[in-house]
Amino acid sequence: GVDAGFAERVIDWQRQHGRHDLPWQQRDSARDPYRVWLSEIMLQQTQVATVIPYYLRFLARFPTLDALAAAPLGDVLEHWAGLGYYARARNLHRCAQTLVAEHNGRFPPAAERIAELPGIGRSTAAAIAVFGFGERAAILDGNVKRVFARHFGIEGFTGSPAIERRLWALAEALLPTQGVDAYTQGLMDLGATLCTRGQARCNDCPLAAGCVARREQRQAELPSPRPK
Ligand code: ADE
Repeated sequence: GVDAGFAERVIDWQRQHGRHDLPWQQRDSARDPYRVWLSEIMLQQTQVATVIPYYLRFLARFPTLDALAAAPLGDVLEHWAGLGYYARARNLHRCAQTLVAEHNGRFPPAAERIAELPGIGRSTAAAIAVFGFGERAAILDGNVKRVFARHFGIEGFTGSPAIERRLWALAEALLPTQGVDAYTQGLMDLGATLCTRGQARCNDCPLAAGCVARREQRQAELPSPRPK
C-alpha cells in the first residue's frame, strides 16, 4: 500500500485520544444519518465547541428529517442565527424536502448518491455514509488535505484540480478495510487538534515518524498557499 501503518496509527490514536463524547457520536448503536448530516453541515465552517449548543437546540426543534422538511424556512434560519454561512441552512431545508419528496424521507445509503443532494459535497457525503451507514468511503476536507500534504510532502495548492485529484486518490488508497469509522473520525480530529494550520504538534502526533514535513522541518510551508 501507500503507507502500510498509516490507518492503523490513526485508529489507535483516535481510540486513545480522539473525541468520543460529542452529542452526535452515539456509540454502540447505529447512528442516525439525519443527526450525522446535521452535525457535518454545522461543522463545515464552525468549530466543535460553537456547534454543540446550536446542534442541540436545532435537534430539539427539528428532531427528524420530516420535522425539518415540514418547517417554514424562517424557523430554520432562526435556529441557525449566529452560526453564519446561511446558505448551509437554506440547503439543509431544501435537502430535507428533497429527501421527503423523492427518497421516502431517508438518505440513500451510498456516498455517491448522497453527494447528489443539495448542499452536500463529496467529502460530506462520504462522512455521512461512513458514520451513518458504516460504509467504506474516503473523506477529504480542508483539515485532511493539510494532514496529507504535510505527511506525504505534497507540493502545490491543494485547491487546484490536479492536486485534488492526487489527494483523493491518496485518500482512497489509505482507507483501511476495518475500522473506517474510527479512522475517519481520527483523521478529522488529528487535523483539527494536532496538525493545525498555525501549528503542528508533532510531539503528540501518531504519524510523526513517517511525516515528510516534519523530517524536512517544512510544517509551516505545507500545504502550499494559494497562488497569487
Ligand atoms: N469537522 C467536520 N466533521 C467533523 C466531525 N465529525 N468531528 C469533528 N470535527 C469535524
